[in-house]
Amino acid sequence: MPLAGGGVTADNLPAVMTERLPIAVLVSGSGTNLQALLDASADPGYHAEIVLVIADRDGVGALPRATAAGVPAEVVDWDRYPDRHRFTAAVCDAAAAHGAAALILAGFMRILAPEAIRRFPNRIVNTHPALLPAFPGAHAVAQALAHGVTLSGVTIHLVDEEVDHGPIIYQEAVAVMPHDTEDDLRRRIQRVEHVRYPEVVDAFAAGRLRVDGRRVTWDPS
Ligand code: GAR
Repeated sequence: MPLAGGGVTADNLPAVMTERLPIAVLVSGSGTNLQALLDASADPGYHAEIVLVIADRDGVGALPRATAAGVPAEVVDWDRYPDRHRFTAAVCDAAAAHGAAALILAGFMRILAPEAIRRFPNRIVNTHPALLPAFPGAHAVAQALAHGVTLSGVTIHLVDEEVDHGPIIYQEAVAVMPHDTEDDLRRRIQRVEHVRYPEVVDAFAAGRLRVDGRRVTWDPS
C-alpha cells in the first residue's frame, strides 16, 4: 500500500514516516475519543492526519465534532446496506476515496467484514473498554461490573478477523470502585482512552510499532 513520503514494513505496519499518515476515524457515538484524536492531530508534529470521519448512522455526536474541526465527515448508514459485506465495502471505499491508509475505530459499534482486514491489513486499530480477552463485544463495561471484577481497563489493539481479538498494542488497568455505576466506570476508562489512544495512534502512524505474531513491540520515540 503506497504511503506518501513513507513506505510499509514486511508486516504492512506503517514504516518510519516523514509525512503524516492519512487516517479515517470510524465512529458510532458521542465521539469523545474522536475529539481526543482531533485535538492531538491539530499539533503539526502529530504523525497522523484525519482525512475523513465515518459514522455508521446520522445524528451521532461525533459528526459535529468533525465539522467543527474542519474535517470531512460521511455517514455510511448501516441500515441502508443489505449485509455486513456491502456495508464494509462502502466504509472501505469511502476511506480509500479520501486517501486514508488506515482505519482508526473510535467507539465504532459495528463488526467489519473480513474484506476490511484484507484491504487494510495491520492497518485497523481499535480501542476497547476492558482488559481483553475479558469482556469482548459491545457491553464490556456493564459485563465487567456484573462480573464483579475489581480491575478493568483499556485495550488498544490491531483488528483481525475475530471480534476484539487482534494483537494488543497497549493495555492499562483501571480500578473498579465498590459503588461504581456503569457511567462511573465508563468515564474513568474513557479518561485513560483520551490520553492513550492519541499516543498509540501517533506511534502507529510514526512507524514505531512492530508486530510478530500476537506480540507488538514499540520502537523508542
Ligand atoms: C469508548 O469508550 C470505546 O472504548 C467504546 O465505545 C466508547 C465510545 O465513546 N468502544 C467499544 O465499546 C467497542 N466495543 P466515544 O464515542 O465517546 O469515543
